[in-house]
Amino acid sequence: MLRIEEKQIKEHLSAKAFRIVSEAADELQIEAYVIGGFVRDIFLRRPSKDIDIVAVGSGIELAKAVARKLGNKSHLSVFKNFGTAQVKMNDIELEFVGARKESYHRDSRKPVVEDGTLEDDQNRRDFTINAMALCLNAERYGELVDPFDGLYDLDNQIIRTPLSPDITFSDDPLRMMRAVRFAAQLGFYIDPDTFDAIGRNKDRIEIISKERISDELNKIILSPKPSIGFELLERSGLLELIFPELYALKGVETREGIGHKDNFAHTLMVLDKLSKTSDNLWLRWSALLHDIAKPATKRWDNRLGWTFHNHNFIGEKMLPGIFRRMKLPMNEKMKYVQKMVGLHMRPIALSDDEVTDSAVRRLLFDAGDDIDDLMLLCEADITSKNPEKVRRFLHNFRLVREKLADIEEKDRIRNFQPPITGEYIMDVFGLPPSKPVGLIKEAIKNAILDGVIPNEYEAARAFMMERAEKMGLKPVE
Ligand code: CTP
Repeated sequence: MLRIEEKQIKEHLSAKAFRIVSEAADELQIEAYVIGGFVRDIFLRRPSKDIDIVAVGSGIELAKAVARKLGNKSHLSVFKNFGTAQVKMNDIELEFVGARKESYHRDSRKPVVEDGTLEDDQNRRDFTINAMALCLNAERYGELVDPFDGLYDLDNQIIRTPLSPDITFSDDPLRMMRAVRFAAQLGFYIDPDTFDAIGRNKDRIEIISKERISDELNKIILSPKPSIGFELLERSGLLELIFPELYALKGVETREGIGHKDNFAHTLMVLDKLSKTSDNLWLRWSALLHDIAKPATKRWDNRLGWTFHNHNFIGEKMLPGIFRRMKLPMNEKMKYVQKMVGLHMRPIALSDDEVTDSAVRRLLFDAGDDIDDLMLLCEADITSKNPEKVRRFLHNFRLVREKLADIEEKDRIRNFQPPITGEYIMDVFGLPPSKPVGLIKEAIKNAILDGVIPNEYEAARAFMMERAEKMGLKPVE
């Protein structure tokens, strides 16, 4: 049971900011409530950041009065078009809105709508667990107003819309994604009527901006067991619309009695496994996308059965298109995911006993500082049901890690910078930027990675002189 004593609720409202809102509301003679996520999280005993205040009257007037009382330690911003205002003080952020008859959401581009009662406002919120309000007026300080029995749904771990779900979802179709996201984040169940309505309304997701959709996807990916969210997206029909490449991983084809694994199920298993060892959002994205090119590269070979040649490289190439469409960052974060997807087959190839130092050095060189992340991804990628196989793979990965550590200690390849620069080569031989400079530089790099010479200045310089002589180049005096 999540019930909390009245005394405890009051403790949550003991911050100075709440007292001030209370005073200001009483002076203006309007009702004021804390509502939404903050209230939900008190009962869930979760930390909460945003504090949403709803005023039965003008949210902006209340915010102004609060800011006046707090004095110059606070900062007030008013968004007149939306009828909202924000007061910031230290690390606390209070968002004010007047109770409305129509749907409320933060990113709404819609102009302000008609004023309403508290109940009107609660009606138009997304879920019963997000519609609970605590009164801030002195006389009823801490009183819970919960017309849809959100507390019951919290106890029973249910995500349910306050009104008929068709109405709630058509007010803001992003709420379909939010339902899935809360189910994944909190480990809750979506009420069957609410879930069925997602199936009926799924096409309306089209009107929602890609940024808002990706925000929800990120939250699903960061939840403790992301597969819960992706399975719900798939079952509701949303996945096919918002992420067709991921949806395409689903299914098994069989030929001559030989089937391949279901790559959607496999991907989710990898993502869940990785999520136990890393909360790095972009490494988790890498897990989600590591096999994304399997459908595109799938071939049947009479000798080998199903093959997915080069799915890592093709996957790497698919990412900019996916990131651009989904309005995910096109910067170094995408490059990192590309690197992970491109390299995810490499460590397993190194697990052979006869693997050369050179191959290990090259992997270290290519992965750089991200080598540990890559190893986490590859270990999560082992989803075989055969315990003997799993044991062998994990054992081999341990060997790879040892080899990596050995080579790293010997050669410090991880942040490899060849000890001889292009400029130096140009200086010594009096060359302009040109092909021979590149050739010499590349030859030095390969000599170091192949272990022909150590990663040191003197050896690299001697190697450079030798190579240049073979090319007919002479140092200038
Ligand atoms: N809300 C809504 N419909 C939306 C978004 C928000 O009804 N599409 C309402 C809900 O009452 C929600 C509140 O606005 O509780 C605040 O929204 P937001 O800050 O986005 O979500 P939280 O519930 O606070 O959860 P989180 O901080 O985890 O996103």
